[in-house]
Amino acid sequence: MTGSLEGRVAFITGAARGQGRAHAVRLAREGVDIIGLDICKDIASFDYSCATREELEETAALVAKEGRTMVTGEADVRDLAAVKQVFEDGYARLGRIDIVIANAGMIRYGAPENVAQEWQDTLDVILTGAFNTVQASIDKLIEGGNGGSIVLVSSSAGLKGTGSDLPSAQAYTAAKRGLVGYMQVLAQQYAEHSIRVNTIHPTGVVSGMTTNEAMMKMAADPNTNIAAMQNLLPIQILQPEDIANAVAYLVSDEAAFITGTQWALDAGFSVR
Ligand SMILES: NC(=O)c1ccc[n+]([C@@H]2O[C@H](COP(=O)([O-])OP(=O)(O)OC[C@H]3O[C@@H](n4cnc5c(N)ncnc54)[C@H](O)[C@@H]3O)[C@@H](O)[C@H]2O)c1
Repeated sequence: MTGSLEGRVAFITGAARGQGRAHAVRLAREGVDIIGLDICKDIASFDYSCATREELEETAALVAKEGRTMVTGEADVRDLAAVKQVFEDGYARLGRIDIVIANAGMIRYGAPENVAQEWQDTLDVILTGAFNTVQASIDKLIEGGNGGSIVLVSSSAGLKGTGSDLPSAQAYTAAKRGLVGYMQVLAQQYAEHSIRVNTIHPTGVVSGMTTNEAMMKMAADPNTNIAAMQNLLPIQILQPEDIANAVAYLVSDEAAFITGTQWALDAGFSVR
């Protein structure tokens, strides 16, 4: 990296653990201050836990170790007013915004208990959550006059669907693909302000989403098509830092020409 990120500010959702935490720490290492939010409580229709307030504060401590500031706040990305409040508090403290990473996401692995609710909650967290994240920050991003970079965290599922009869898995793929359409609209709309918008599409990553009992149970089920989840390269699973390293490049001035793209960070999953 050429140091082009020094003094900038990033807004990251789902920042308490996993990839969100890795983005915060990696960008802090590049000289970026962070506004980070997380829900810090569970959502009933999902079958593994969301992160905790302690985990969010641990991310802030790791950012501080890198010599940067992280303003934290609790908000559900489905709630625009709450997301806006955390963003505004952070903006008031840090005074600028350059990078927005819509990263919060959940899925249900187990058998459905409430089909309509699970479909809706998955769509709302992933798709409406990304919309609310951009809504909360876009005016200040434009006003700053320095350009900017918005990263919508999609998934390999957003490039290639895998068969499933589970409503949350179906909604997950639909929403992650929906982010591509949303990204294209935003990229066209804000290019004149030098605001770049891209989706990233990670394959499996070690995080709270993959390291939990519900996921283990699903993987052990003989009906699960594990072969359909394998990467092309002999890399079983990625680390959050792999994704954060790629994103640190994507949001830097070295990538100033990259907008409107769908970046597969997937060990070849999408061309298998
Ligand atoms: N882990 C993977 O294999 C994988 C692969 C591709 C894409 N993704 C995507 O990467 C993103 C980050 O996930 P991760 O892998 O770090 O998993 P994770 O579960 O460790 O992190 C997700 C974070 O989002 C938070 N969150 C969930 N719902 C929220 C809400 N409504 N409002 C605010 N915060 C909320 C959680 O508390 C958690 O801290 C997600 O969008 C996920 O869909 C993950």
